[in-house]
Amino acid sequence: MNPQPTNTAAWLVAKRANLEVKPAPYTAPGENELVIKNHAVAINPLDWVIQGAGSFLFSWMKMPFVLGSDLAGEVVEVGAGVTRFKVGDRVLAHALGTDKKRNSPAESSFQQYTVVLAHMTSPIPDSLVYESATVLPLALSTAACGLFQKDQLALNYPSATAAPTGKTLLVWGGTTSVGSNAIQLAVAAGYEVIATASPRHFGYVKQLGASQVFDYNSPTGVRDVIKAFQGKTLAGALAIGGTSALTCADIVHGCQGHKFVSMTTFPVDFQRLSQGKRVGVQFLRQLPRLISFGVSLFFKSRLRGIRTSSIFGTTLMDNEVSRVIYTDFLPQALAEQRYVAAPTPAVIGQGLGRIQAGLDMQREGMSAQKVVITL
Ligand SMILES: NC(=O)c1ccc[n+]([C@@H]2O[C@H](COP(=O)([O-])OP(=O)(O)OC[C@H]3O[C@@H](n4cnc5c(N)ncnc54)[C@H](OP(=O)(O)O)[C@@H]3O)[C@@H](O)[C@H]2O)c1
Repeated sequence: MNPQPTNTAAWLVAKRANLEVKPAPYTAPGENELVIKNHAVAINPLDWVIQGAGSFLFSWMKMPFVLGSDLAGEVVEVGAGVTRFKVGDRVLAHALGTDKKRNSPAESSFQQYTVVLAHMTSPIPDSLVYESATVLPLALSTAACGLFQKDQLALNYPSATAAPTGKTLLVWGGTTSVGSNAIQLAVAAGYEVIATASPRHFGYVKQLGASQVFDYNSPTGVRDVIKAFQGKTLAGALAIGGTSALTCADIVHGCQGHKFVSMTTFPVDFQRLSQGKRVGVQFLRQLPRLISFGVSLFFKSRLRGIRTSSIFGTTLMDNEVSRVIYTDFLPQALAEQRYVAAPTPAVIGQGLGRIQAGLDMQREGMSAQKVVITL
């Protein structure tokens, strides 16, 4: 029998500390799990939010911990019951270590070897490099939860043969990683998509499949989008970023159809929360803004008969949406280039030692790009 590989991780050893590269245990896969040798990982806002405010918002995580949700690499070990994968397969996977239900450093991506759930993993075609594949998992999962879960927008599932539904979805924040996936998924499910973006990215958002794009900073943005929806049947709205849920509620109020806003973003200034002196004090300072958001959302939605729901991008692991996306839809769609890995990877270097720089860069804000590190 071959000796077990040695593993190394970028550890979060204490709250708010910079990541430290140190040895980590190699963990064998359990039932329906795989071990992946990671070749590229991507950074999400979630990673620096946990680093900066984890002790306050993610209290189940005990330090030292490993962060990271996105990975692409090669299968090195297959657990009992896994039939879709074999050693050597090239894959992407949504790593779930920081999720409350998994709560396991071995299952996060900022290390050489990660244990992943087979049903949250997709094979990738030879034409797709690891650096591109790794931009997908968390954003793809989050978009899929919002669009397809029965407790969210409950849209028809995507497929190669989806018939046009005659309905139109609003994606507020089309250039975000989540938005880039939501547009593609909704179009693949037979919906027309109207999206927002900054004007320099109108072409990008249209290339992903949006029929019309509006400037989310324009003072006439809400009116313009409502006008674009005249004569169309709304499939619902996916609100991404800041206080977009309030804006989307105003738009949905002016449209005919499914009056539902699925929300990705909790309107907290996480940058301030994670960088200020004490997280609890910073949170209290933001409380008036949060209360005002809650009250506004109540008046703009409930009193107008509009339903709203917050998305947690890991919930699909426990329902059929994970199979729909990671098994049924994505592998073939990537192989046939009906689905693209978007946004573009911004590869900032190689090695676990570069991940801290990646977190710092993503915290400063990215524009239609995703920070990626090769391993
Ligand atoms: N609930 C969950 O489970 C979950 C999971 C993942 C992400 N999220 C949240 O979803 C949001 C997007 O995350 P992401 O990783 O997709 O972000 P991202 O890729 O880092 O988003 C960057 C993009 O945001 C756009 N943007 C900036 N301000 C905006 C605004 N006010 N309205 C709409 N778009 C704006 C910019 O577009 P332009 O360049 O066109 O200006 C930029 O391209 C974040 O709030 C994140 O915390 C939630």
